[in-house]
Amino acid sequence: MPIQALQVQRTPFYYYDMQLLRDTLQHIKRLAEDKHYAIHYAVKANGNPRIMDEIFQAGLGADLVSGGEIKAALAEGCSPQQMTYSGVGKTDWEIRLGLDNEIGCFNVESVPEMMVINQLAMEMDKTAHIAIRVNPDIDAHTHRYITTGTAHNKFGISIEDLNQVISLALTLPHIHLRGLHFHIGSQITDMQPYVMLCDTINGLLRDYEQRGVTFQMINVGGGLGVDYDDPDNHNMADFDRYFGTFSQHLQLRQGQVLHFELGRSIVAQCGSLISRVLYVKQGRGRQFAILDAGMSDLIRPALYQATHQVQNLTSTSDRLERYDVVGPVCESSDTFASDCMLPTTQRGDLIAIRSAGAYGESMASAYNMRSLPPAVFSL
Ligand code: LLP
Repeated sequence: MPIQALQVQRTPFYYYDMQLLRDTLQHIKRLAEDKHYAIHYAVKANGNPRIMDEIFQAGLGADLVSGGEIKAALAEGCSPQQMTYSGVGKTDWEIRLGLDNEIGCFNVESVPEMMVINQLAMEMDKTAHIAIRVNPDIDAHTHRYITTGTAHNKFGISIEDLNQVISLALTLPHIHLRGLHFHIGSQITDMQPYVMLCDTINGLLRDYEQRGVTFQMINVGGGLGVDYDDPDNHNMADFDRYFGTFSQHLQLRQGQVLHFELGRSIVAQCGSLISRVLYVKQGRGRQFAILDAGMSDLIRPALYQATHQVQNLTSTSDRLERYDVVGPVCESSDTFASDCMLPTTQRGDLIAIRSAGAYGESMASAYNMRSLPPAVFSL
């Protein structure tokens, strides 16, 4: 979108490049063609209706973590059979909502949860299709807040307990065990943890086959990372290497479907947070570019020390200066970038914070009683 069009918008706002989103979806679909893949979009990454609509129209399913997300995905036309519902703390009404709509799969995280699902399904005269989430104890080498597959994490059922849980699942009359689910973490750019995951799954498939237990599907979760440092040169995640890793290392059985739950890699690069410089303030030995966007609009830098590229869209200066780019919220963690080199920046300049399409708008809050940022879309 031309800068003039962006300039008339009230800031801050999220700007989405819909063509990039469509290109990304086409690329994923090409790679998944002719394969037994079911690709779900992890709605938590970005639940904006226009974004979801584009993704579901492309035929992807949904990975959901709350009743609110189930309702939103239904409203955007995602078919219930293509829905998976994950999370360690599903409430009764959320489980009922899933059962009522006959969603494709509950990813079950504990025995007590499985018993409740069976009970509620019995009361509603339904069968719940489930996958058991396994905690494979694999370190994904990512930020500790978004590592989910190690023994210290609250997620999933340990491999030691799996036997017992599977035996129990097979006896529950309102539970249909479809397969196994895994998710080891997010923003993963090194494929080694995925190779380890494949090895673990291969071992489990062999063991269970010997006991006469087979699975219709395996779900390997999401987690593929994007390049936050260079979004212009890498505007798509490395889907070829990611899918290639699974097709090379995972020994799926005849007819078995491989499910994925991708969030960040689908939407991160198509979104930017657009903001305006309110003030340039000289501090002791530093200068601050103070924006009208803050951690309430994009919390990733404050919460995970995440780095996003910051660009001045309107400065015409060819001189580079050093800035701390900060927001207006009353916390020192409200900093988007420290020691950031930008062309000479002044009040009124438009600033883009890049790669903000995932976990940006969806994690925005009203902290400091600020308004939620609106969204603007390209054609
Ligand atoms: N499946 C499950 C079970 C998950 O917990 C997640 C993300 C995904 C799929 C999607 O993962 P993705 O493909 O987006 O990496 N707010 C953090 C990320 C939290 C991820 C939580 N789970 C951030 O901004 O980095």
